[in-house]
Amino acid sequence: MKTAAPKLPLRKLAAAARNAARNARAPYSGFRVGAAVLDDTGRVHAGCNVENASLGLTICAERAAVFAAVTAGAKTIRCVLIHTPTPTPTAPCGACRQVLREFSANTRVIALCDGPGRLDTTLDRLLPDSFGPDNLAA
Ligand code: THU
Repeated sequence: MKTAAPKLPLRKLAAAARNAARNARAPYSGFRVGAAVLDDTGRVHAGCNVENASLGLTICAERAAVFAAVTAGAKTIRCVLIHTPTPTPTAPCGACRQVLREFSANTRVIALCDGPGRLDTTLDRLLPDSFGPDNLAA
């Protein structure tokens, strides 16, 4: 018999991402993003986008959350939940997909917004046939 996957604390992740979006530093784009990642031990780590006057130095919310997780000792990321106060959900950018890929290929990716729409998928669907740590281990 197949054992059910452990339930994800989606409400907790959604609240963490929503709160993080409130702290976004987005004076140039006005586009606020919050992200919350769930690590392998069940802990939640949040991040927001932090823009810089030197625009290329901006960091996305997803990467900020991943780096916070690693700083706290996380080894694997089971789920990332993104919140934007927009009418439609926002998928992670390509750079963030690749950074998430480092920690697992089948991470669940959820995006919520202020509207009814939601994205609920997995990283391997967003980044098929990906390059990852295994390629270097070969
Ligand atoms: N942004 C994110 O935080 N995550 C994404 O996946 C897409 C874009 C941020 C970066 C920048 O501060 C603003 O959204 C507009 O691109």
